[in-house]
Amino acid sequence: MQTTLLGVSSLRSSRLAYGCWRVAGSWNPAEVTDDTRAAGHRAIIAAYEAGYTLFDNADIYCGGEAERILGNVLKEVSGMREGVIVATKSGIRPGGAPQPDAPARYDFSAEHLLSACEQSLKRLGVETIDLYMLHRPDYLADTEEIAKAFTQLKSSGKVRYFGVSNFRPTLVTALQVTCPMPLVVHQVEISLAKLDAFTDGTLDQCLIEKITPMAWSPLASGLIGAGARDLLPSQKPYRPEQFRPALEAVAKARGATPTAVAIAWLMKHPSKIQPIIGSVNPERIRDAAKADDLNLSREEWYRLLIAARGEPLP
Ligand SMILES: NC(=O)c1ccc[n+]([C@@H]2O[C@H](COP(=O)([O-])OP(=O)(O)OC[C@H]3O[C@@H](n4cnc5c(N)ncnc54)[C@H](OP(=O)(O)O)[C@@H]3O)[C@@H](O)[C@H]2O)c1
Repeated sequence: MQTTLLGVSSLRSSRLAYGCWRVAGSWNPAEVTDDTRAAGHRAIIAAYEAGYTLFDNADIYCGGEAERILGNVLKEVSGMREGVIVATKSGIRPGGAPQPDAPARYDFSAEHLLSACEQSLKRLGVETIDLYMLHRPDYLADTEEIAKAFTQLKSSGKVRYFGVSNFRPTLVTALQVTCPMPLVVHQVEISLAKLDAFTDGTLDQCLIEKITPMAWSPLASGLIGAGARDLLPSQKPYRPEQFRPALEAVAKARGATPTAVAIAWLMKHPSKIQPIIGSVNPERIRDAAKADDLNLSREEWYRLLIAARGEPLP
């Protein structure tokens, strides 16, 4: 697979990233079984063997179980830790802790970020996290406090580089002017079913600031594919049927699957969007990697954009 540098960092990653959100097979740690854990384990190995070298994770994925599964693979596969970028996120806290009546909330306090990072390191079984991201913007985000936490994490060798996720562009700027280190990625939802990043300033800012955009749910949780098992509530109104015929036509002409074309469509943008593949099916993980060889023409790209918009351009 082709590679790319993340933002202004020295982290060189495969063009596609592998996402570990679904590797435990459930959101709920109580529902994880040996079989679902083994399937996640196999999926990560399939991604590694197919050339993916960035593994995205988060402390809240199945209450930390997704980080543990990745950690076990890193321990088991000789040479893998040295060859891949271990990425994870924090800043979302589930309800019920530490007090039983605490609400689910966001928390970018230094105290929380430092302790969350410590726990992720333990679950992943690594000394250093290569890329640490703030998961969703904390309404009470204090950029100076975040900068202090980042500085401590970097100087102690626990984190190499930092990024954000689901931020509005103005909050990225607010954090960047306070932080002594560059923000190297911005992880947002982008797909044919979710076009906001193209027009809300997110991708413009990535171009200006040399931040690598990472696209989560590049297949809209499977809606652009064989169907979705676990849709996020915000994805329920998506209407993939309006662009499916155009996608299938391009796929047929290219001799590729519609999902590979949908991923290649993201990769065409000059900001070098890095799609994060979320399937746990080894065959689909390998098929997605074929998007790396598909360079869509402007005409194909616009045909798909117009179908996805559901109306002609002005
Ligand atoms: N920063 C954030 O807020 C945020 C939010 C969500 C996700 N993420 C990251 O983004 C990653 C990807 O998100 P995602 O899992 O929603 O990505 P996705 O690729 O849009 O969706 C993957 C889902 O689609 C299903 N699917 C159905 N048909 C498919 C096909 N033909 N090809 C491929 N998949 C098909 C998969 O099922 P099978 O497994 O059965 O193939 C899987 O359940 C996550 O793992 C996570 O790392 C970040």
